[in-house]
Amino acid sequence: MLDHKEILDLRSKHLGPSLSVSYDEPLHIVRGEGQYLFDAKGNRYLDCVNNIQHVGHCHPKVIEAAQQQYKKLNTNTRYLDETIVNYAKDITSTLPDGLEVCFFANSGSEANDLALRLVRQFTGDKATIVLDGAYHGNLFSLIEISPYKHNGPGGNGSPNFVYTLPMPDSFRGKYRGEDCGEKYAQEVQSAINEIQKKGEKVSTFIAEALMGCGGQLILPKGFLKKAFDLVRAAGGVCIADEIQIGFGRVGSHFWGFETHGVVPDIVTMGKSMGNGHPLSAVVTTREIADSFNNGMEYFNSFGGNPVSCAVGQAVLDVIKEEGLQENALEVGSYLLNQLKNLQNQHDLFGEVRGRGLFIGIELVKDELVPAASEAQTIVNQMKDKGLLLSTDGPDHNVIKIKPPLVFNKKNADELVKKIDETMSE
Ligand SMILES: Cc1ncc(COP(=O)(O)O)c(C=O)c1O
Repeated sequence: MLDHKEILDLRSKHLGPSLSVSYDEPLHIVRGEGQYLFDAKGNRYLDCVNNIQHVGHCHPKVIEAAQQQYKKLNTNTRYLDETIVNYAKDITSTLPDGLEVCFFANSGSEANDLALRLVRQFTGDKATIVLDGAYHGNLFSLIEISPYKHNGPGGNGSPNFVYTLPMPDSFRGKYRGEDCGEKYAQEVQSAINEIQKKGEKVSTFIAEALMGCGGQLILPKGFLKKAFDLVRAAGGVCIADEIQIGFGRVGSHFWGFETHGVVPDIVTMGKSMGNGHPLSAVVTTREIADSFNNGMEYFNSFGGNPVSCAVGQAVLDVIKEEGLQENALEVGSYLLNQLKNLQNQHDLFGEVRGRGLFIGIELVKDELVPAASEAQTIVNQMKDKGLLLSTDGPDHNVIKIKPPLVFNKKNADELVKKIDETMSE
């Protein structure tokens, strides 16, 4: 087996230099099980951040489903196959009525790129409204609509068809406090006015109901509903990006957008959908799907293949059988309360927020100055104590907590105890 240094050397020699590696002293992880990861020396880590391994690392039922299907058949979607239709039916049954047509792909980026193609075909327009700080994927088309990337290091800003709203951050944003949702919604109307003044039409508004890379941000009450209404009144289509937050993570609901009482026209999903297997989807209405049926086939060599669908089906089944959405609600609420209790003891804890097992701790100094290097230090020290976390947000000062949904109360207690210790140190 290659040692730590040999892997690092080969990595720098043969892998693209723009790939990052987690932690000041990188980990050599060799095995995963449930909510735990193990390094080459046999040390165990509690994984508090891998939202992709949704039902737990190496879940036996998911592996078994993949193995069984691999033994039987793996082809593209041009043959009749029951795996894909059953899975499509089950996915749509988790969504509000009307969201009934699936397109399968292999990554969140592919799903969002396809969603953009659908809306541009359906509306005949390109003007796209996005939230500042948002990330929607690594393809060219998605860097264009991801301020997190195009306004970050190495970025070239947004193209002229992208209209960026201020990040609806009630803690440190342009408008603050409980009732700022309405004010942020007025920014949607301003963007629409700007688009129309140029003689263009609104094509789409894309948003996550809880922002992931934006720093575990919960959109203020009323914002999304009003934003959807305004965009639709202007002829646009609303896309909910559920790639980071979907599949029961928010606990109270299966999908993040449901927490805002809205029904999108298109939902994109990925990441946790395959528990680490590359699988994603776009789900939309019959009307939008039909408008895309213009003679040009949508073909995807791997998207929706029988193995991927068998894996996706197993993930859905495990979420139900093991009551993982309910667990996210129970353990997530418990953890959130415990972390909120720490808020009075640690000045750096600016805001503790979250829903289900999607929680963020925003660290700030006096006058709400973001405490990015402190957040980084804490994450590194927590790693040394056997707990894996990460930071995010436009200022990289938010500690992210989004573990596999098998995370339990004992794990929550350990996290709270160790973070309390580390903060005190
Ligand atoms: C909200 C959101 N959308 C899209 C993507 C892109 O997904 P992928 O990395 O699978 O292409 C991500 C990935 O982090 C994401 O968080």
